[in-house]
Amino acid sequence: MKIIYKQNILAQTADELRKKSLQTGFVPTMGALHAGHLQLLKQAKAENDVVICSIFVNPIQFNNAADLERYPNSPEQDIALLNDVCDILFMPSVEEMYPVLPTEHYDFGTLETVMEGYYRPGHFKGVAIIVKRFLDLIQPDRAYFGEKDFQQLVIIRQLVQDYHYKTIIRAVSTVREDDGLAMSSRNRLLSPQARAVAPFIRRTLSEAKTLKEKKKPYEIAQWIQQQFDNNKSFTLEYASVVNAKTLEEITEYSQAESIVACVAVWLDNVRLIDNITIV
Ligand code: PAJ
Repeated sequence: MKIIYKQNILAQTADELRKKSLQTGFVPTMGALHAGHLQLLKQAKAENDVVICSIFVNPIQFNNAADLERYPNSPEQDIALLNDVCDILFMPSVEEMYPVLPTEHYDFGTLETVMEGYYRPGHFKGVAIIVKRFLDLIQPDRAYFGEKDFQQLVIIRQLVQDYHYKTIIRAVSTVREDDGLAMSSRNRLLSPQARAVAPFIRRTLSEAKTLKEKKKPYEIAQWIQQQFDNNKSFTLEYASVVNAKTLEEITEYSQAESIVACVAVWLDNVRLIDNITIV
């Protein structure tokens, strides 16, 4: 695996690959890699000639300084994990990516004002800025994003459409621990006690899905809220049952072709998100 630290070298390398007509698959990450990230990389490997991964803890997508401060970081371990599944690793410094504070502005309408966008103001602007810069540098044939960050995936699809990028966005199903907990770099921050109760998130969402014959979408959202309200270990930030395309909360099944239930919860001072497709 070749490691690149500079933007101009990355752009030049991507250019050479294009000249050789090699297909490139790009997987952006913030490191602290786990089996979820590896699944994205494996899929990229299966569908492209060359796999490019980035590790960059993007400061401008953290709306909370303490969250950025304690975001897990394990570069040596990450590099060891990547060796088999990645050809080129881009690992820039903050100064390299942002020699001056970025000022570009993106507007995703409601997509960025609900759920994560509401509770983490500015988060998706930061995600859009960095992902667009990576796409401009690499111009990959395909880029891979996890369904675990469902809203992010929808926003990236919108970004690619708005700017007429040729890159195909590929969605990858959420990879879970054996007990159902969605893999996340933040799981490392959980105490053993918190880790033991964390599968409640997935269990609740799976049970919510079984209620679709009996309850309307908004009643499912209320039911999820109740489950978390009744469990002292968790503080629920939101439980939303939304149209998978517009991310608008819906009340009736007729309002959307596909419906997703999304939650964000606090457990042991760690913020975790998960979602499930209801229809
Ligand atoms: P990060 O949280 O490191 O996630 C990188 C990619 O891995 C994202 O597309 C995310 O959805 C995916 N992913 C994380 N956990 C997963 C799981 N359990 N199963 C499947 N995929 C999973 O998301 C980001 O970084 C950043 O916002 C980024 C896009 C890199 C921009 O900075």
